[in-house]
Amino acid sequence: MQIQPPIINIFEKAVRKASKVLLRDFGEIENLQIESKNLGDFVTNADLKTEKILLETLKYYYPSATFITEESGTIVGDKELIVIDPIDGTTNFIHGIPFIGIVVSRIFNEAITDGVIYNPILNEFYWASHGKGAWCNNKRLRVSKRQNLNDCLVGTGIPHANRTYENYLNEINNITTSCSGLRRSGAASIDLAYVASGKLDAFWERNLNIWDVSSGILLVREAGGKISLPDGNEWTLESRDILASNTGIHEEIKNKLSLL
Ligand code: IPD
Ligand code: CA
Ligand code: CA
Repeated sequence: MQIQPPIINIFEKAVRKASKVLLRDFGEIENLQIESKNLGDFVTNADLKTEKILLETLKYYYPSATFITEESGTIVGDKELIVIDPIDGTTNFIHGIPFIGIVVSRIFNEAITDGVIYNPILNEFYWASHGKGAWCNNKRLRVSKRQNLNDCLVGTGIPHANRTYENYLNEINNITTSCSGLRRSGAASIDLAYVASGKLDAFWERNLNIWDVSSGILLVREAGGKISLPDGNEWTLESRDILASNTGIHEEIKNKLSLL
């Protein structure tokens, strides 16, 4: 078993503390206060309370860091970046569906160095640190070994409302006709954690934000998987689109996604 680095212990403390509020609200979803930021883009009082607790706890340990958060925006500090998504999968949360993740990661010198994803409903605590592997509840994670797309289960994010883009039905058609199943979990962080765990063989989605994917990208890399843009080009911190998979099927999926 890998000893957790001190930064992961701090992130774990923060997400477990924040999860208490979230768990209380998950059991009382009929009392949630829900606001719509955009068509199909919701924020609940649970998102706001969870983020507040995360920020309070993390600011104590990293008083001079820059915080990039979904709900409070960017709090400018020094070159060390801490990225927060208080609830990834808010729509799932509102509907009582247990696929959600509290996401905290650290970026330094343009590299994601450490990250956690905690699903308090299923009690799954994922973490990864550069060079130290990817883990869930003390178990080492490895991406799947499947080599043929035909045998693979693929995750995606189906865009809705004003997030749709011209080619998404073609993409879905090209992949779904060549694989053994398609899944849409509703939480990009969990999709990436499932690729790292070898549950999903691949995942692609467009128009994501850094807080959706930062921890998951490190998990996939540390579990032996590959991250790129859907067209195979290099993923950077500014990228909105992503393709994650085991190394054996990356090329095949990339080719399918590039067909028009
Ligand atoms: C969303 C989830 C979802 C993805 C959306 C994200 P949120 O995050 O990750 O799976 O399809 O694009 O915005 O809003 O629940 O934090
Ligand atoms: Ca999110
Ligand atoms: Ca969120």
